[in-house]
Amino acid sequence: MVNAEKFVEKAIAEIKTSVGSEKVVMALSGGVDSSVCAALAARAIGDRLIPIYIDTGLMRKGETERIKTLFGNIQLQVIDAGDEFLGALKGLTDPEAKRMAIGERFIRVFEREAKKVGARCLLQGTIYPDRIESEGGIKSHHNVGGMPLQIEFTKVIEPLRDLYKDEVRAVAGALGLPKEIQHRMPFPGPGLAVRVLGEVTREKVAVIREANWIAEDELVEKYQPWQCFAALIGLGTGVKGDNRIHGWIVAIRAVNSRDGMTADPLNIPFEDLVRIGSRITAEIPSVARVVYDITAKPPATIEYE
Ligand code: XMP
Repeated sequence: MVNAEKFVEKAIAEIKTSVGSEKVVMALSGGVDSSVCAALAARAIGDRLIPIYIDTGLMRKGETERIKTLFGNIQLQVIDAGDEFLGALKGLTDPEAKRMAIGERFIRVFEREAKKVGARCLLQGTIYPDRIESEGGIKSHHNVGGMPLQIEFTKVIEPLRDLYKDEVRAVAGALGLPKEIQHRMPFPGPGLAVRVLGEVTREKVAVIREANWIAEDELVEKYQPWQCFAALIGLGTGVKGDNRIHGWIVAIRAVNSRDGMTADPLNIPFEDLVRIGSRITAEIPSVARVVYDITAKPPATIEYE
């Protein structure tokens, strides 16, 4: 286990040396890796760090506001690209095609914005396990697609390249980042798109964003799962008021895991499950039923696509 305080000192010195007087650009998602990277670089080079947060329109409720507040003291570029991402997803139902469309869009938006700021260095939150997973080449945003950036950077800086996730969390602590960032659940790069089966539409994203918010509200603090969320898995009949409706089916997923490679469903008391179901159907009129996913990984994956 790395000594977090020493690491912070060393990383800041290293960033200073490798950046010199250049400007540095990075994609900040608000997850622990990119947040730690941003905090280190902000200490090292101040406002010559230009973090870019791309709002894909597929983020969780409150995420963009949260980022703005958390990183309000640094020169954060918030790019509202929701229409662009939803446009790229239109008509796509195949999970891989959806992922590729999002990955590609992400890279192109980032390229466009990075060019505007004229930075020649790229900072990335790549951690040791990411390097093992994909050797060679510049991973411009390993979270989303691994597509290359078509920009010539003179330097790519990866301060977390030798750290494991738990070490990154320790460094977040040493940097005094909020606990909320330090212990943040993983959230997939393609966002809520992998939590909507089939075609992604604005309406479905709005429904699942709200359901996901309720699931997290009910489960995160109480059970501290490795990951929990809601997914939109289809349509079914229901009755609301005096009417039979054709409404959304929402699945709740809550798992414990060590590294995401395998996972076990959380043993949640039945009363809590029923309360979550009641809240979701009451608060979101177009949801007809709620189910709890009891499948381990394997055979299921954690996400739905
Ligand atoms: P699966 O669904 O494969 O997920 O069991 C394992 C872990 O990885 C996350 N995940 C992703 N993270 N980009 C990411 O950054 C992705 O495309 C992606 N797909 C899955 C998932 O949330 C879980 O923590």
